[in-house]
Amino acid sequence: MKYAAEIEKRKTFAIISHPDAGKTTLTEKLLLFGGAIQTAGAVKSNKIKKHATSDFMEIERQRGISVATSVMTFEYKNTLINLLDTPGHKDFAEDTYRTLTAVDSVILVIDSVNGVEDQTRRLMEVISMRKTPVMVFVNKMDRDGKNRYDLLEEIENELKIQLHPMTWPINSGKDFKGVYDLTQKGLVLFTAGTKQTDDEDIVEISDLSSAVLDEKVGDKDAATLREDVELIDGVYGELNVDEYLSGDKAPVFFGSAVNNFGVKELLDTFINIAPTPRNRNTNTRSVNVQEDKMSGFVFKIHANLDPKHRDRIAFFRICSGRFERNKYYHHVRLDKDIRFSNPYTFLARSKDVVEDAYPGDIVGLFDTGNFKIGDTLTEGENFFYTGIPTFSPEIFKEVVNKDPMKTKQLEKGLLQLTDEGVAQLFTQHGGNKKIIGCVGELQFEVIQYRLLQEYGASVQFNTLPFYKACWITSKDREKTRRFHPLQNGQHCRRQRRALGLSGPKRVVP
Ligand code: G4P
Repeated sequence: MKYAAEIEKRKTFAIISHPDAGKTTLTEKLLLFGGAIQTAGAVKSNKIKKHATSDFMEIERQRGISVATSVMTFEYKNTLINLLDTPGHKDFAEDTYRTLTAVDSVILVIDSVNGVEDQTRRLMEVISMRKTPVMVFVNKMDRDGKNRYDLLEEIENELKIQLHPMTWPINSGKDFKGVYDLTQKGLVLFTAGTKQTDDEDIVEISDLSSAVLDEKVGDKDAATLREDVELIDGVYGELNVDEYLSGDKAPVFFGSAVNNFGVKELLDTFINIAPTPRNRNTNTRSVNVQEDKMSGFVFKIHANLDPKHRDRIAFFRICSGRFERNKYYHHVRLDKDIRFSNPYTFLARSKDVVEDAYPGDIVGLFDTGNFKIGDTLTEGENFFYTGIPTFSPEIFKEVVNKDPMKTKQLEKGLLQLTDEGVAQLFTQHGGNKKIIGCVGELQFEVIQYRLLQEYGASVQFNTLPFYKACWITSKDREKTRRFHPLQNGQHCRRQRRALGLSGPKRVVP
């Protein structure tokens, strides 16, 4: 219980959405509230665009900046908030799914005009599976959106979650007048084109029959709001926070991120009820977040953040104890002790070397090739954190080396990029053909670009007619051996070891 006060202070979460719903805009507004950035546009200009590869590349060129936005730490009302960014594009969904293993809760942004979209559906499946607490922000209320009752029904049915309205909108589009805060009993007024600042647009209306309501929003809308609130109170009552924490109920807020409207209500509720770091499962036992001994896992690796230094950063989520600079930790998979002299934190304005960090925190560890995604560090105990997903690739392409002088660089690049989890690398039986497997087309373009930019290796990809890669396992070792393409396994094992892979793997045409 040594670090209870530090743990209580922390909330680690991710914002997720279908591309264009407003994730970046909302992130930026939250950072503005936290004082982590001073001007609007600071996050947006660095965001990873989702539409065109060229945009992505352009951003990758400024990678030093964009990584600063992949974890953002800021303080708001004595709460230390770790916000993890997730790429919106479906081709990078693997990265998003892994990031979701490192958070304790999620804010889901939904576009009020488009409602539930593809990517939202997929992400919610993962969130529901893990029972991660979720808050919903219905964005773009300043545009003519769907009827709000229909929208709530759509979200509940499509995402299979139960919602609990925390604010309620008065109209939408050009008639949008604001939201009524159902818990604080306050009317938050919207004036198009102005940005909400602190409390100045909030009118406290504890009794909705008050004439102030009619005065502020007009008789007709006041009457509708009274009816709506009566109905909502009747149906939903008060939020049961335990149901939110167990992932069974999702509080929902309405607003307009670009106008910084409805965001404060979301953030204030978030710091009040969102979970602090929770206990986590390993392959041997559940680790209590209050344990004194440090443990945690790597959920993301990014190579060559700074092209001049050729370093890799492993993003490490602390799950228990206190992480200290220069202290030796046990790398469970490699069975060796390592220490970190320059661990980073991700305070939004700068990347600072950190002396110590606590559960919920993400630290960036300089890596010289020791880490793979999912690796666990402990103070000696042998366990590893479970639940970090791996994906079966769906598109396979042969790597054609266009510059034989750069073969070594290519090999290194392929190994490092596959360690990052961007793609999987296979060699085909009976040859030396290198095959890259990914879940999305866009990743091939990113790999090709990064191999050239970061390793000087020029490649071309030839599409292959494979659609699945399977791990072949059997309790009967002899059966596995017989199934294996090279019966004595020698040659194949050597090849796989050289590629940093373990266990027999086969690409199935
Ligand atoms: P994403 O990260 O989820 O992909 O979405 P992002 O925040 O980039 O927002 C997508 C677009 O939606 C942006 O417009 C943004 O300004 C707009 N947007 C965000 N919140 C609101 C809102 O509350 N109301 C309205 N009407 N629009 C909103 P864009 O034209 O793509 O970019 P930009 O020109 O603003 O840079």
